[in-house]
Amino acid sequence: MNEDLFKQIIAHAKEYGFIFPSSEIYDGLSAVYDYGQNGVELKNNIKQYWWKAMVQYHENIVGLDSAIFMHPTIWKASGHVDAFNDPLIDNKDSKKRYRADVLIEDHIQKIEDKIEKEVEKAKKRFENFDEALYRQTNGRVLQYQQQVDDIRNRFAELMNNNDLVGLKALIEELGIACPISGTRNWTDVRQFNLMFATKLGSVADGADTIYLRPETAQGIFVNFLNIYKTGRMKLPFGIAQIGKAFRNEIVARQFIFRMREFEQMEMQFFVKPGEELKWFDYWKQTRLQWHKDLGIPAENYRFHDHEKLAHYANAATDIEFKFPFGFKELEGIHSRTNFDLSQHEKYSGKKLRYFDPEVNENYVPYVIETSIGVDRMFLAVFSHAYTEEKLEDGTTRTVLRLPAKLAPYKVAVLPLVKKDGLPEIGQEVFDVLKKDFMVQYEDKDAIGRRYRRQDAIGTPFCVTIDNQTKEDQTVTVRERDTMEQYRLPIADLTVELLKKLR
Ligand code: GAP
Repeated sequence: MNEDLFKQIIAHAKEYGFIFPSSEIYDGLSAVYDYGQNGVELKNNIKQYWWKAMVQYHENIVGLDSAIFMHPTIWKASGHVDAFNDPLIDNKDSKKRYRADVLIEDHIQKIEDKIEKEVEKAKKRFENFDEALYRQTNGRVLQYQQQVDDIRNRFAELMNNNDLVGLKALIEELGIACPISGTRNWTDVRQFNLMFATKLGSVADGADTIYLRPETAQGIFVNFLNIYKTGRMKLPFGIAQIGKAFRNEIVARQFIFRMREFEQMEMQFFVKPGEELKWFDYWKQTRLQWHKDLGIPAENYRFHDHEKLAHYANAATDIEFKFPFGFKELEGIHSRTNFDLSQHEKYSGKKLRYFDPEVNENYVPYVIETSIGVDRMFLAVFSHAYTEEKLEDGTTRTVLRLPAKLAPYKVAVLPLVKKDGLPEIGQEVFDVLKKDFMVQYEDKDAIGRRYRRQDAIGTPFCVTIDNQTKEDQTVTVRERDTMEQYRLPIADLTVELLKKLR
């Protein structure tokens, strides 16, 4: 885990108006964040990139915007009331509460960090032809790897069997201590439901308990029939939705990686029973390609196929991303069989079936789900883009190498000086470009400082107006990543920049 780098990234996100702690003037609210002037643009661009790829580019996928409040029986049917739990444990000395599974995962991560270091050492020793030391290091790697495998296997079994006593025993056996008190004085492990409950109606006393949705997916399932009928949809077809979700996470940390209020981009793809694994593979590859198309190198992604599946799933994988704190889940792709629709049939008493004219039969379709957190995607692109670069003159520049299509602003218009008619030309250029791009206009401070500010928010192009502009109506274009500069006629700017951005 690169803690210093991660701290720098969080500080940068705040300093440059991307992300602020929520309610900051009241000392903040744990695991809730606000997106500032640049953050909201980047977040909107991520959502648009997803929506285009899913809805616009697939003739058989349509959108939905369902309400956050839903009938409480939905959460009974989906299993969330009974089983959307995390195992929690308290340290009796620090009174701090932890997720038992996260304590174990962190322990595994520490061993994996050691493995990474030993592998690096082994590589060097191999390159230096130091055979004895190489063997020694390699031996340690194998030993640590065996430890990780053993813990993982036992951990998976305990989680699958909901064995809370076994989880506590494993924590004790691994000697896991509370990071605050340093002691191993643990309570028993208990289950904790993650849904936020509230009351519907103006009189809280007699009102029904309802939940803030913990996922957007159920809004899609309960609208399956509406969209299938009104959209005259034919299998296979998908319904996509972007919206807020809420989870009362016990351990909310790692900035916007795990939040209590967050946003999801989910798509449920309804297919003919028996065809689900073919579509599962299709979506696995298609979603990975969506990530790679941003130009972030492939080694930053990996699949983590689930060996143990939830009782309703017959295939599941995560796309993991290399965050500054290691590979973690970014997106989930699940083959959910007909579990959700069948449950809603049972609890609502309504038939949720598709009439298949080819076989003249009604059936409950099977479902492939793709689900990604907007905030987690934000953290992935933001942390990957953050770069501290040493320049030839010995100075450093901080540059956000964001994929251009996601950058909050595409162009900055910068008159070289705030006089001699240059600001007026700058305003004219701004008025032309703003029709096609998000543009920033800035005429304060030395040009070098303005370039740095634009680098720090990830603006791919700066357009500088200087005295030559008055003579030949050309401007200097400076590219963020290479810092290369060249002149272009104002009349060609829109077309040339559009070409480059595409
Ligand atoms: N409908 C399936 C579902 O919700 P999930 O694995 O619980 O599955 C899907 O969540 C995605 O939502 C995750 O891969 C992650 O990107 C995002 N996500 C989940 N919990 C989150 C949280 N507390 N904060 C931020 N993002 C979260």
